[in-house]
Amino acid sequence: MQINDESIGQAAQLLKNGEIAAIPTETVYGLAGNGLSADSVKKIFEAKGRPGDNPLILHISDIDQIFKYAQTVPDLALKLAEKFWPGSLTMIMPKKPIVPYETSGGLDTVAFRMPDNKYTLKLIKLCGFPLAAPSANLSGLPSPTCAEHVYNDMKGKIPLILDGGVCSCGLESTVITFTEKGVKILRPGGVTPEMLGEFCEVEIDKAVTEGLEDNDKALSPGMKYKHYSPKAQVYMIECEDRSIFAEYVNKSFDENTYVLADDTDNIKAKTLPYGSTATSEAAELFAGLRKADEMGAEKVYVMAPKKEGIGLAVYNRLIRAAAFKVIKL
Ligand code: TXA
Ligand code: MG
Repeated sequence: MQINDESIGQAAQLLKNGEIAAIPTETVYGLAGNGLSADSVKKIFEAKGRPGDNPLILHISDIDQIFKYAQTVPDLALKLAEKFWPGSLTMIMPKKPIVPYETSGGLDTVAFRMPDNKYTLKLIKLCGFPLAAPSANLSGLPSPTCAEHVYNDMKGKIPLILDGGVCSCGLESTVITFTEKGVKILRPGGVTPEMLGEFCEVEIDKAVTEGLEDNDKALSPGMKYKHYSPKAQVYMIECEDRSIFAEYVNKSFDENTYVLADDTDNIKAKTLPYGSTATSEAAELFAGLRKADEMGAEKVYVMAPKKEGIGLAVYNRLIRAAAFKVIKL
């Protein structure tokens, strides 16, 4: 259903009744429920098939709401909220008891984000409670960047999808926790290390670009699960320039191979739309991976982005989609 003043009224009613609904944000679509209700949150985990120890983000519509749900709020959090909210930054803080452990995946901390979508913000206000919302995909699949992706994963499982068009960012938010001198990035996204670096020291968690060893503890539980995986095998090719990538692909493809590349790339294999800048790659990546499955792809080739700016976020999703297999040329 198209998102507008009328449909958010209906959605608010459903959510107040403890139901769940899919909502658009600027990053990806979320599957929302009352973040203060264990019963509603359970419905989210069920619909997604998500492991119960993977915590949800509380979506709020006003910075002051943090104080209702967080036990302590670092000054830096307020500064970053002023600068980057509404927007794709999620901040983790110690939780107050009012936030159920079902929402926080059993942790004593809880994550906050103010999404950049005017209707979704209005919806949160109408509800009067924060909306717990993970990405609205089935657990393990690429996150949905349009309402049709949500429909494909959730049809028959949820009562309402609010359609707000294609998500402008296309990758999930940057998740950070606070350290003594600044922040640590647990999941990179649209708010980049460089942007955060203007305010404080920025550490990047090892799990962002590398697989976790069996005995490593995941700071962000989401990082330990297989993610963003289409059925096809994804090959991420790390090389200096696009001509080397094209040469490799042109030697290795077969009829069931698809390449994420824009058509200026001299690729002889079938291609799927992909950007030529890190920002447009971010916007196209999940749609491309989903399309590859629709086309029955067995192999998907894609060139590794530079690990800087939003490219770091693209790299982080791709290396997981590729099950940490990187081909270095
Ligand atoms: O852009 C987004 O963040 C989207 C939209 C819908 O807002 N949401 C989203 O949620 O991506 P989800 O649940 O798919 O990813 C949340 C990530 C997970 O990796 C989770 O483990 C981590 O954030 N996370 C949430 N709360 C946490 C906490 N208290 N401590 C550590 N990690 C946390
Ligand atoms: Mg997700």
